[in-house]
Amino acid sequence: MRPKVLITRKIFDEAIAIIKKHFDMEDNQRDVAFSPEELVRRLRGKAGTIILLTDRIDEVVLSQCPDLKIVSNIAVGYNNIDVQACTRHKVMVTNTPGVLDDTTADFTMTLLLATARRLIEADQHLRSSQWNGWKLMEFLGSDVHHKTLGICGLGRIGQGVARRAKGFDMQILYTDLVRATQSVEKELGASFVDKKSLLAQSDFVTLHLPLEPATTHYISKPELALMKPTAILINASRGPVVDERALVQALKEGKIAGAGLDVYEREPEVEPALLLMKNVILAPHIASASHETRLRMAMMAAENLIAGLTGKRPPNLVNEEVLSS
Ligand code: GLV
Repeated sequence: MRPKVLITRKIFDEAIAIIKKHFDMEDNQRDVAFSPEELVRRLRGKAGTIILLTDRIDEVVLSQCPDLKIVSNIAVGYNNIDVQACTRHKVMVTNTPGVLDDTTADFTMTLLLATARRLIEADQHLRSSQWNGWKLMEFLGSDVHHKTLGICGLGRIGQGVARRAKGFDMQILYTDLVRATQSVEKELGASFVDKKSLLAQSDFVTLHLPLEPATTHYISKPELALMKPTAILINASRGPVVDERALVQALKEGKIAGAGLDVYEREPEVEPALLLMKNVILAPHIASASHETRLRMAMMAAENLIAGLTGKRPPNLVNEEVLSS
């Protein structure tokens, strides 16, 4: 009998086609996330699943789905999965690293440039027929070129952002748990500083950290207080890395000048005050959303699933230890 798998949300036909070759597949063309109960009900009896970052896999789910062998996440971040619990239940966890780095870095720059140059506000002004001609003093934003960019987390995406920022002649600071090699620093023209110095010196602060207990509220009231009143915060990592209420407060009090956000603490909810702020750009978690990249992510997730259920080591296994446990 062919293994049964569940695809929890709508994905590309190309990925469905390769999955169907190997497995009996149940999918969810409705593209609305299952409730936790429904997810468990549908996962029972399945050997594998492809999930999105909106699906939570934890002890409660795993203890009710003993046939599950692999959870294939279509995202690089896997904070929606309790990996330790998966390892305990001998369930492989995979993600989709690498393919989205450049696309996410592109989008980070999009957010940064659009926030600095007030693009959305200006677009809305024009569309609402308020524009009555060129003015010297209208929509004055802040320059990006030659400014200081502070990158928190110089992983693959952070490095991609640095590479792009170099093209804008920005001065690049970074902070991370581990310092990059000299050759990486040289290639990117990036200087290692501690978090406080980065926050105090940067005109733009951009976050590229995985969401973990240690990075939850990495930016909160004390950090925002260190930033320049002219600074702009960019977040295309995970929402809870920023304390959204503290951010609202800092923006209201003029502690920082603006923010470009792609992610939120309680998605799809957004702090209501942010919706009213003109100096904030809000994107609906789309940093990796180019057609090419999302397709690659889905194909990668399908390949991970197939490998895991056909006795091979999935190429993007997150919990190596599951193989020896
Ligand atoms: C998207 O947010 C991802 O982690 O891939």
